[in-house]
Amino acid sequence: MLIGVPQEIKIGETRVSMTPSLCRRCVTLGAKVLVEKSAGISAGFTDAEYRAAGATIANSARRVWREADLILKVKEPLPAEYGLMRTGQTIFTYLHLAAGAELTKVLLKKRILGIAYETVEATDGSYPLLKPMSQIAGRLSIQIGAYRLQSQLGGSGVLLGGIPGTMPGHVVVIGAGNSGAHAVQMAAGMGARVTVLDLDMRKLEALDIEYRGRVVTLMSNPANIEAEVSDADLLIGAVLIPAAKAPIVVSRNVVKKMRPGSVIVDIAIDQGGCIETIRPTSHENPTYLEHGVVHYAVPNMPALVGRTSTIGLTQATEPFVALLVQKGVERAIAEHRGLAAGVNTRDGKITCEAVSKALGYS
Ligand SMILES: NC(=O)c1ccc[n+]([C@@H]2O[C@H](COP(=O)([O-])OP(=O)(O)OC[C@H]3O[C@@H](n4cnc5c(N)ncnc54)[C@H](O)[C@@H]3O)[C@@H](O)[C@H]2O)c1
Repeated sequence: MLIGVPQEIKIGETRVSMTPSLCRRCVTLGAKVLVEKSAGISAGFTDAEYRAAGATIANSARRVWREADLILKVKEPLPAEYGLMRTGQTIFTYLHLAAGAELTKVLLKKRILGIAYETVEATDGSYPLLKPMSQIAGRLSIQIGAYRLQSQLGGSGVLLGGIPGTMPGHVVVIGAGNSGAHAVQMAAGMGARVTVLDLDMRKLEALDIEYRGRVVTLMSNPANIEAEVSDADLLIGAVLIPAAKAPIVVSRNVVKKMRPGSVIVDIAIDQGGCIETIRPTSHENPTYLEHGVVHYAVPNMPALVGRTSTIGLTQATEPFVALLVQKGVERAIAEHRGLAAGVNTRDGKITCEAVSKALGYS
């Protein structure tokens, strides 16, 4: 099997889908690895390190896409890559097809076997390849929010932790899953007032026990959301309905009630976002102002910390990549239910029900 590792081309992306250490593992297991020149450089991995790990370095993305049986990526293929895909190729990456109608059409037309990191399942039904990036995005959301609250950047000038004699900032986190729980941890650590809302009482109970009342946990319903969000200095959107488009949990009318200069970080933007006023932004131009509220909605936040993200991501993908190399793609999918759950497109059809529903194919 020849594994191709193209350089990521999404704006501001710094991650790479394979470290030299994962490369060495694949080569040891019998695969050939073709890495695009400088693909790892923004995550701190040089071509020399990949060569030493047994990879061949390709001068162009075109060559990687042309020769590889399996393309290993981080972000979903972008329009500039559509023409490079080879009919029948396997692509293992984040796909986020529920929010990607155009990409889905291309994958179907080219009969791509598209395995989406975000729907690969562990035996307990959790999403092991979503988890590390969600943890990073959750942690980052607070440092980004704290920075964007600064007066010179158009924020309200609230210091999240406050100082003695002042009211700390109010951080409201909607969604208490992987990203939400890590946002809560950072916000509480900074000394903010933290409220977290979810539909899943078990997640709220766990946070209540962990923080012994230092964090307010609330059921996610329209009344609680309106009351908390209208008082938030920093609102974090962290909900997920697996593989589906994110539900809108905060309406435009509620956003209008937020104080001027307050900040929204909608982590769920990669699934369409969970705030009515949100639209995707990029690392080049990460925020916009609407109703006086700063909106941040970068779909690839972990790229801000490319080194940590690359290591976190590839240690999660490694067992699945190793399986694909050892067994070959077809057998690996046939024998591993969790990996099979990652298959979103094959033979010109959508094979993931949630994606099919979200895009109106069923
Ligand atoms: N922007 C980025 O760079 C980035 C990076 C990583 C992950 N993400 C995205 O962040 C989102 C969250 O991922 P996660 O791993 O934390 O998911 P998760 O499944 O661990 O948690 C999601 C939580 O949302 C809750 N939820 C669902 N509907 C809700 C509602 N109406 N109100 C309140 N809570 C609700 C669920 O009960 C669950 O606890 C996903 O869309 C993921 O793709 C984005």
